[in-house]
Amino acid sequence: MSNSFFQKDIVSIRDFNKEKFDTIFDATDKIISMNPNERRELGRGKTLGYLFFEPSTRTRLSFEAAMASLGGTYIGIADASSSSAKKGESLADTVKIMSLYSDVLVLRHPLDGSSRFAAEVSTKPLINAGSGTEEHPTQAILDLYTMRKEKKKIDGLKIAIVGDLKYGRTVYSLLYALGNYKVDVHLISPQALKIRTDSTYEIKKRLSYTESTNLEENLDEFDVIYVTRIQKERFADAEEYNKVKGSYKIGPEIIKKMKEDAIIMHPLPRVDEISPEVDSTKHAKYFKQAEYGKDTRAALLALILNEKGF
Ligand code: CP
Repeated sequence: MSNSFFQKDIVSIRDFNKEKFDTIFDATDKIISMNPNERRELGRGKTLGYLFFEPSTRTRLSFEAAMASLGGTYIGIADASSSSAKKGESLADTVKIMSLYSDVLVLRHPLDGSSRFAAEVSTKPLINAGSGTEEHPTQAILDLYTMRKEKKKIDGLKIAIVGDLKYGRTVYSLLYALGNYKVDVHLISPQALKIRTDSTYEIKKRLSYTESTNLEENLDEFDVIYVTRIQKERFADAEEYNKVKGSYKIGPEIIKKMKEDAIIMHPLPRVDEISPEVDSTKHAKYFKQAEYGKDTRAALLALILNEKGF
């Protein structure tokens, strides 16, 4: 019998349920504990093709590292301005060409709907690595895996999600994903960066949450503080960005008010929302989170490429 991820696209985390998350989390645990020689058999002879139409450090490099750890190779476009997209080649043609050269595709693109569209034209499985302000499903997978590893559970957690909730695609994927669990979610953002009402209907079907502008309210109750960057590049008007930049800063004073065993997560990159002084505290889990990105993506690739799983 095929594993349920074999040759499947990963476009939206809304297609996931608890069983699918458990399959990936268990596969990730297995990947981490595997002998490297054994792991290198899982992607042997396979090629990952990536198309990044927006900048990336973690997502692209962790996919590269993940594919290399499986014994496969990778090719890709890290900067669309160096590709024939610059000459006017369409996304559809670019995706069709990449699916001739690879076994699995990874796409990051600034437009909402780009991944769904690309998955339809691709003849190989396609993984959404960030589509506009819409979703970043593999980020949500690694976020949940981080909670499971670092807090030993997901159900029962009290989670604050802080920062740019309007444009942050990681936030939407995380909220959809958390809808599969019994969690207590508090959304904290400037008024102008509250979550978009076009998504709340879908989120509220599975998850209840509170909204606030005040980070310090209930700070001593949160198990997880998930911080996001206020994304300058998403603002059409620089004035509007200037009004909200630096709204929340996690530093030593905030740390003192947190629960003793609370963890701080961040999808990264950060700008100034978490002070570097926090990095050496026991609360800081954002670099570990980025490391889990490689492991969860390796597990996902191995499941997509191997019919019987591993
Ligand atoms: N978290 C994340 O998607 O980081 P990059 O933009 O560096 O890939």
